[in-house]
Amino acid sequence: MSKTTTIFECSHCGAQAPRWSGRCLECGKWGTIGQDPIINNQETRDKKQSKAKMVAGLPMQRFDDIKIDNLARQTINYLDFDRVLGGGLVSGSLILLGGEPGIGKSTLVLQLALILAKLKKKVLYVSAEESGSQVKIRLDRLGQSSQDLFFLAETNLDVILGTIERDKPNVVVIDSIQTVYTEEVESASGAGSVAQVRVCTVRLMEIAKRLGISIILIGHVTKEGTVAGPKTLEHLVDVVLYIEGDRYKSFRILRVTKNRFGSTNEISVLEMGEFGLTLVANPSQLFLLEQPESTPGSVVTVVMEGKMPFLVEIQALTSKTSFGYPVRKAVGFDANRLQMIIAVLVKKCGVKLDTQDIYVNVVGGLKIDEPAVDLAVAVAIVSSLKEISISQKTVVLGEVGLAGEIRNVSQLDNRLKEAGRLGFGKAVTGKGTFDEKKLGIKVTQLNNLSQVVELLEKKGK
Ligand code: TYD
Ligand code: MG
Repeated sequence: MSKTTTIFECSHCGAQAPRWSGRCLECGKWGTIGQDPIINNQETRDKKQSKAKMVAGLPMQRFDDIKIDNLARQTINYLDFDRVLGGGLVSGSLILLGGEPGIGKSTLVLQLALILAKLKKKVLYVSAEESGSQVKIRLDRLGQSSQDLFFLAETNLDVILGTIERDKPNVVVIDSIQTVYTEEVESASGAGSVAQVRVCTVRLMEIAKRLGISIILIGHVTKEGTVAGPKTLEHLVDVVLYIEGDRYKSFRILRVTKNRFGSTNEISVLEMGEFGLTLVANPSQLFLLEQPESTPGSVVTVVMEGKMPFLVEIQALTSKTSFGYPVRKAVGFDANRLQMIIAVLVKKCGVKLDTQDIYVNVVGGLKIDEPAVDLAVAVAIVSSLKEISISQKTVVLGEVGLAGEIRNVSQLDNRLKEAGRLGFGKAVTGKGTFDEKKLGIKVTQLNNLSQVVELLEKKGK
């Protein structure tokens, strides 16, 4: 006799469990496991299997016989969109724009929609979050006429698809994918659940490819970045864009993390102003604005975001530990890497840090995860401890290894060139080849962190 079991399914993530529980063990959501179990016995398995039919295959193709389609791209000439999208908006593509709530997704897409409407594209802006008048207020704020921009306030995807099918716009914006729903998915999983978001995206992709419409989906990401949204959709869409930055500061970085039609090494730096987002003219200087007169503990370095170099100020503060274990805190920099740099400074360079609290801060709210800033962090710590200030016109770059060696950084040329262009006269770095004459900057190359510390101490005397 075949064994009959029951299965309980989570409406949020689709995980299956043999027993009912109040909380899904996969996604951690409460109250999403359905009360009615799915009966799983031989009969139901047979039923499922009998649906799978043998299908006749297709002849195989040689790559030589395949012609490359000429992608129809619409150049936009606005806010660096062409560069970020790899040469313009491709018809029939599905684009996902992710970002935290309030970062400026709706604003950015509305600006894009306005430009496309001006380029004689029929654009439909679907808002599943805001009413027409709310979006109109934003439009008025942007101060542009919106004659040829169409609007639909709707959350039911089937209605949205029907409208697209009938009116055939060239570009559709869905704001946001987490607030639309389809009745195709069981009603227990409301808008925003993984099942809903996935099915809605697949259906939008189908219509985009079939009718050659570009569809832009907006997706919210929370602080943890693990919402039923952008992360679960990345593999379905053609292009993934993220808009990042500090909500309380004005600059934003538009980053492309996936692009089936271009490179992913592109970013565009924008600024949120009174009239929407504008392009920042000289982005590499953006994070230097707050640099004080040469103070101990402050060092400038160069980080790369995609192909773009940025000059960034790193600050460190050391103060005598008054109680218990010393504190080590980092903002904008990896705390584990900070611990490692401190250990190298103590063990390999003889710097006395065991009774010092250490704080490291990356100015301007930038989050850095490349090791090329290690040396700058190390120098900032020593500079604060010994009260030696580093000249305002010096940049420090290099990765620090566990043996105290200074490693090469990628794209050293580009970084040094940018520093030279912005008037920095000196650089301290590890080994690496570059053409010093072209760079317009005097470079000191050292192999070991202890040599850098010695150089600093000499300067302090
Ligand atoms: P919004 O695009 O609504 O963010 P999201 O769709 O990502 O949730 O915009 C967020 C913020 O931008 C909002 O707090 C107001 C501000 N803003 C400006 O500063 N200037 C402007 O011109 C506009 C339209 C918005
Ligand atoms: Mg919005």
